[in-house]
Amino acid sequence: MDKPHWHEEGNTIIMHRVQELDRTPIVFSFDGQDITGFEGDSILIAILTRFPYLRKNEFSHQPRSGFCLMGACQECWVWDQQGERIRSCSTPLQAGMELFSTSPVIQGEPAHES
Ligand code: FES
Repeated sequence: MDKPHWHEEGNTIIMHRVQELDRTPIVFSFDGQDITGFEGDSILIAILTRFPYLRKNEFSHQPRSGFCLMGACQECWVWDQQGERIRSCSTPLQAGMELFSTSPVIQGEPAHES
């Protein structure tokens, strides 16, 4: 697998938790790295408090981190292990989720090792 997208220079995390820090931790993975979110997080919040952005646009290759935060713009897609596209701003985080910044399935073959 290529280097994870967040390793590029100049990327900084722009979303920081300022309250509700006592919620139950939930472990999930993003691009093969185990990370911790909190019960009640959307997938978008759980990822963006740990990484500078969610994915890169498939055409412009520019970083994407969501835009509307209400399920309308389609800027917050991530993918699950089966290659299903997930709207991260409106999907609750669940323990054990395996999520990816690109589809793990390309032409019927897994693109990521599980
Ligand atoms: S941020 Fe717009 S649909 Fe998720």
